Amino acid sequence: MIAYASRDGRAQLYQGDSRDLSAIPTGSVGVILTSPPYWVSDRGRASADRYARSLATGFGREWRRVLAKDGDVWLVVGDRHDGREWVGFDALIAGWLRRTGWRLQSKGIWAETGSRERWDNRINYLLRFRKAGNRVRPAGATLCWMLPLPRTHPESIWDATPDQVLRALLLASRRRGAVLDPFCGAGTVGRVALAAGREWIGVERDPRMARLTARRLKMARCP
Ligand SMILES: C[S@@+](CC[C@H](N)C(=O)[O-])C[C@H]1O[C@@H](n2cnc3c(N)ncnc32)[C@H](O)[C@@H]1O
Repeated sequence: MIAYASRDGRAQLYQGDSRDLSAIPTGSVGVILTSPPYWVSDRGRASADRYARSLATGFGREWRRVLAKDGDVWLVVGDRHDGREWVGFDALIAGWLRRTGWRLQSKGIWAETGSRERWDNRINYLLRFRKAGNRVRPAGATLCWMLPLPRTHPESIWDATPDQVLRALLLASRRRGAVLDPFCGAGTVGRVALAAGREWIGVERDPRMARLTARRLKMARCP
């Protein structure tokens, strides 16, 4: 993997496939906060279920290894109508993560105002998981926002999660340990996490997006 780091070492970025997080020490991450690519490439509940399973089994194993025992995983995911019905993507993800040893501990919503989409992805689910056996004591917080969809950066093809949503999720999470975004795109989670005084690790498969994140967050390529 190609690595980048900030001068003070508080931000690290790896360009590569985040199914392999071997560069990150076991148990060193306090919070995983990420928005995986939404399920858009196919139709039907069976395909959505395969995608949910690939997230839980292909990526979840490394999430489990790098995350502290009482760490949090926040996934920002959308849902889709496949022409016949809404597939209930959040429930498919929760189901597969449950089968692989995670428990859904909080559920919130960010609804997009002024969405470009006709119906898909107007509602984004904010799902917090912990390893089975580690419960979150409910804080009574209502995780609910109606906000416009921000573009990450003019050079990015991806959309971002609004800063205020990311800040609130971090505040509700384990305070110690680095924040990891294994699908970091243009690095929005990194910008918010660093501004909140957290250390941040990003992983991004697309070299162009990784270079953009490195530039935005003032990171240099490691020798
Ligand atoms: C929805 S975008 C994330 C957008 C991000 N929140 C931002 O602020 O830019 C998902 C990102 O995951 C990346 N990605 C997809 N598969 C990946 C993988 N296996 N490993 C690492 N990154 C991956 C994509 O290239 C894309 O940049």
